Amino acid sequence: MLINDFKLEVFFGKHEFSAPYLLTQSDCESMSITDLLKLEDGSQEKFLNEWLGYTEVPGDPELRNVISKLYTTMKSENIIVHAGAQEPIFNFMNILLEKQDHVITQFPIYQSLFEVANAIECEVSRWNIEQGENGWMMDIDSLESLIQPNTKLIVLNSPNNPTGYTFTEEEIKKIADIARKNNIYVFCDEVYKGVELDGFKRPWFADYYEKGISLGVMSKAYGLAGLRIGWLATRDEELLGKLIKMKHYTSICSSGPSEKLSIIALKNSDMLLQRNTQIIKDNLIIADAFFNKYSSLFKFNRPMAGPVAFIKMNIEMPIAEFCDELVDKQSVLLLPSNIYDMDSQYFRMGFGRINFKESLDQFEKYLIENKYV
Ligand SMILES: Cc1ncc(COP(=O)(O)O)c(C=O)c1O
Repeated sequence: MLINDFKLEVFFGKHEFSAPYLLTQSDCESMSITDLLKLEDGSQEKFLNEWLGYTEVPGDPELRNVISKLYTTMKSENIIVHAGAQEPIFNFMNILLEKQDHVITQFPIYQSLFEVANAIECEVSRWNIEQGENGWMMDIDSLESLIQPNTKLIVLNSPNNPTGYTFTEEEIKKIADIARKNNIYVFCDEVYKGVELDGFKRPWFADYYEKGISLGVMSKAYGLAGLRIGWLATRDEELLGKLIKMKHYTSICSSGPSEKLSIIALKNSDMLLQRNTQIIKDNLIIADAFFNKYSSLFKFNRPMAGPVAFIKMNIEMPIAEFCDELVDKQSVLLLPSNIYDMDSQYFRMGFGRINFKESLDQFEKYLIENKYV
């Protein structure tokens, strides 16, 4: 398969482990294994005695069970554990799609969610998230106009990376109805689910639609990216069977120690999500003050959910050049919108880290010293 470079991962590969001020990260604050094990009495001893053999291909049975409890209609057998979120995106697209199938993807969106379909030589249409006066918006009715006789799949990412847009329950129902009427699968990447800032938990897409597939992960809302544990949830038995056979060719089974740690984290799901939602909320108060102060330079689109926002910047210089200079001169990392195939001048900011203020102060220092403000 010939596939284009993953622009975001190439960009992070250059800077993520050298720039000290990571002001764009999409994963929430992480924690040590010791702190995670403290969440369950006796777990340290148990963890150290775990056997390091192969694990079951669909995932540890207890892990599949705790994951299924996040949903209203899923049972353990509806869950297949994978390596992070990237493996299941790749595997799912490869089991479902064939050359010349038509795929509709929300746009902007994380690159693999359309690039794997491109590499399979599908026809891909964008369903745009629009910049409105008060933030990002989507016209749900416009989805129907994109549907063609060969449309096989709609790809969503809610909460969305990079805009922070999230569907309401009514919008989810509407999309499911449109998809059902046209017999189209819906793949909903929900890796940022759980850190809703308005306090309303949205339903998982797969709970609403029998041909819906929900993608979840430990990396983002839980802040446990190093575990590399993600999952797909669906009620479609044919897809579940094909996903297992595809996993035989990729990771075979997931990391045993990571599965055990994920079980502990998910048993404490509410607490971990509350902790990270609070970090985001506290950082957003700091961000509000910053963007109010510099309102002529930025249009701040507060995220509806999730740890990232996509912010418009009013400068002459191409945004990619601006972000390159910022990281070179001040060691502050922001992600420019060209990474998302967009011409307009946006950057992605992340609010999930506890050193947010320190990084924002460095950004402000750079803007002042270079006479942008
Ligand atoms: C929307 C979205 N999906 C999937 C992924 C991949 O997640 P992971 O690193 O856990 O594989 C990311 C990572 O940034 C993402 O933003």
